[in-house]
Amino acid sequence: MIRTRILLVDPDEPEPDAIAEAADVLRLGGLVAFATETVYGLGAVATDADAVRGIFQAKGRPSFNPLIVHVGGDDQVRSLTTDWTDRAALLARTFWPGPLTLVLKRTPAIPDVVAAGGPTVGLRVPAPTVARRLIERVGLPLAAPSANRSNRISPTSADHVLADLDGLIHLILDSGPTSVGLESTVLDLAADPPRVLRPGPITAGELAEVLGVEVLSGDAGPTGAAPASPGMLAVHYAPRTLAIRVSDPAQLSEIVWPGRAGLIAFQTIPDAACPPGVARIVHPDPRQAARAFYRSLHELDARNLDLIIAVEPPPGPVWDALRDRLRRATTPHVS
Ligand code: TXA
Ligand code: MG
Repeated sequence: MIRTRILLVDPDEPEPDAIAEAADVLRLGGLVAFATETVYGLGAVATDADAVRGIFQAKGRPSFNPLIVHVGGDDQVRSLTTDWTDRAALLARTFWPGPLTLVLKRTPAIPDVVAAGGPTVGLRVPAPTVARRLIERVGLPLAAPSANRSNRISPTSADHVLADLDGLIHLILDSGPTSVGLESTVLDLAADPPRVLRPGPITAGELAEVLGVEVLSGDAGPTGAAPASPGMLAVHYAPRTLAIRVSDPAQLSEIVWPGRAGLIAFQTIPDAACPPGVARIVHPDPRQAARAFYRSLHELDARNLDLIIAVEPPPGPVWDALRDRLRRATTPHVS
């Protein structure tokens, strides 16, 4: 068992001592959780295979699921990929730093364990000052999946990280809640046309517009084929509480409500649609919903309810990422 330390850092003016300490832990092969704009990441030096194995161990993550590598900028990227194409450069110019992960062919600088043995690596430049100073100070790329136990809810605050990983990691840099709240869009640029492997804050439509080419999204692969993005298993990010979803508020009338239940929704729900004692969380604005989604799930999960009911967001690409995460966190209600 490791003693997990927590260092408070100012998100705008990170204390140099805290950054230096975290960088030392990383250089010695340790694990440090830090905030990105999406969720907290669990970082290790990406070129240190032993340190990266520690991430898989702490998370209980299956070894077939590759990790995203976080870099400081384009220059650092070039030694990690063999195909820094015009498309990659254009997207990097437009969306980095930001919540976009580009999957490209990897060089031998990326250890097999990071790539789960595959030919590619996912790369991104995170935006927050703390993350950027940390990468700069270490001077090496950082592999960092979301800082939760595998298959649990992603962390958007240091408390969430601690609840899952206390005693399993060395350090948490606590710079407050994350701003975007849902994981980055993962785009496969090794494919032609490019394909969104995981919907996220940047939509397929926005990517297509910048690239001027078609961008595929959704699972178009043959049934039974291995998922293109190996981490995208159907059930993921799940709360401990039984959580089911309906696609339309009208279906709430079919629910047999237990004594203690919670509701999470993304549009106005009529008062009469659920019993008075039900804990309700409603986030009608897409950006605010993204920011608050995992926190809301953590909160409902902590109440020891008998049931969580989720109502899917309305149609439309701005809700794609949230709809995707909601579906992975819940099982469908069958009438
Ligand atoms: O916003 C994010 O992306 C956060 C922050 C910490 O950067 N990270 C994150 O990492 O969500 P993780 O490990 O929880 O999810 C990474 C996703 C998985 O679905 C994984 O399969 C996919 O990215 N991925 C990573 N490398 C890949 C690769 N080379 N090819 C295909 N998919 C890849
Ligand atoms: Mg994750």
